[in-house]
Amino acid sequence: MSNLNTSVDGRWSSHFAYILAATGAAVGLGNIWKFPYIMGENGGGAFVIVYLLCILFIGIPVMMAEVMIGKRGRSTPANAAAKVATESGSSKHWSFLGMSGVVAGFLILSFYVVIAGWAVAYVVHAGSGDFSAIAAAASDSGDHAGKIGEIFSGLLSNPAELITYTTIMVVATVLVLGKGLNKGLEKAVTSLMPALFILLAIIMVYSAIEGHFGEAAAFMFAPDFSKLTVHSVLEALGHAFFTLSLSSGIMMIYGAYLPEGVSIAKTSIWIAICDTVVALMAGLAIYPIVFANGMEPAAGPGLLFQTLPIAFGKMPMGDLFGTVFFVMIVFAAFTSAIALLESATAYLVERRGLARWPAAIVAGSGIWVLSLGTVFSFTGAEWTKMSFFGNGGNFFEVIDFITANIMLPLAGLFTAIFVGWKVKKAHVEKEMQLTGAAMGALMLCLKFIAPIAITIVFAQLVGIISL
Ligand code: PFF
Ligand code: NA
Repeated sequence: MSNLNTSVDGRWSSHFAYILAATGAAVGLGNIWKFPYIMGENGGGAFVIVYLLCILFIGIPVMMAEVMIGKRGRSTPANAAAKVATESGSSKHWSFLGMSGVVAGFLILSFYVVIAGWAVAYVVHAGSGDFSAIAAAASDSGDHAGKIGEIFSGLLSNPAELITYTTIMVVATVLVLGKGLNKGLEKAVTSLMPALFILLAIIMVYSAIEGHFGEAAAFMFAPDFSKLTVHSVLEALGHAFFTLSLSSGIMMIYGAYLPEGVSIAKTSIWIAICDTVVALMAGLAIYPIVFANGMEPAAGPGLLFQTLPIAFGKMPMGDLFGTVFFVMIVFAAFTSAIALLESATAYLVERRGLARWPAAIVAGSGIWVLSLGTVFSFTGAEWTKMSFFGNGGNFFEVIDFITANIMLPLAGLFTAIFVGWKVKKAHVEKEMQLTGAAMGALMLCLKFIAPIAITIVFAQLVGIISL
């Protein structure tokens, strides 16, 4: 068992620093880029309701379980899970929970930095006035959407540009991580997170004034359950995991740094509320602009990068607010990228004995290499095309699907089973500091609701794939 004789020694300097860091991990491209377009693709309101149920009954309990494992184990995810398992008389092979998280986090980061790089590119485009220049030129020729589309397709077909912006994101992330927990991560999130909230509030006000707010709210909150398919439910479930940064080693490693006396239950609920509020705010910022310009809500991954710039180009002070918008996305993505690289970095420090800087550099280099798979997926390179259960896709699509829709919910299923059924109840009670009805509700979710719901969704999925 000597390999379990390991532990992390850093701690968040305050309760608040932890909340900011964990909220920073949660709030990211998932909220601002992915949630609005998958909501659009899946019919709006009904999808939002399923998603909120997933957050409440599955996401929050699983988040609490993960933080608890990290805090009680006080080491990197795989070791923490093994320690918590063995002290309850279970197999140390529960370490796979931590392993799969580190692997999933690494895979997610490999495409995450590329999309974040798009946002950096768009800060440059918006800042240099490209959107309004194209709109003005197009008022003669009439091909506005086409010309904006060329910015996006131009970016996607230019590997040198994509690699440059991706590299900027990777290097910035490594620079923060190399400095360690208190001087690097904490410092970054304490300035970036408040800035992010201010930028988002500015964009929302702008959008409410300039856009069709009522139409957007109706689209998001008037449920039409006839639009809901099994695939949308899977999408909502997977997104609940993705958006809260679950099953990716993050909440376990951030829990390992938790000072004593912080309530896991209260902080988890706060983090989930902040994440959900940002996702809904992002929807309420983006859709009024989309509808005011008579555009398509189900535009897919291009919603943010193609649909919105068309609108910004036509709107008063659109270049300024477009710049603010894309800076906000870069900040959001950056604090999540930091979290994603932390689990790999901490692993290299604890298990391979590297110092912080070399560990951050090694992890960052690995991500950089893997990110090329996503870069060349968008250029349409032949070698990125793969088939997955008979469905064709490129490297990016397959990694996105395997992580968000399969690895994350599956690891969540086992985390719920582990803490619900295998860990001694006294240990759970002590770490969660919950008793009575609150403990009962948590256990009900971990023991029954989450495992049953995830299993049903997967059973349906297997049916879809084999069709
Ligand atoms: N929660 C992040 C988002 O919504 O963008 C994405 C993410 C970050 C997923 C960190 C997983 C993770 F470990
Ligand atoms: Na999120």
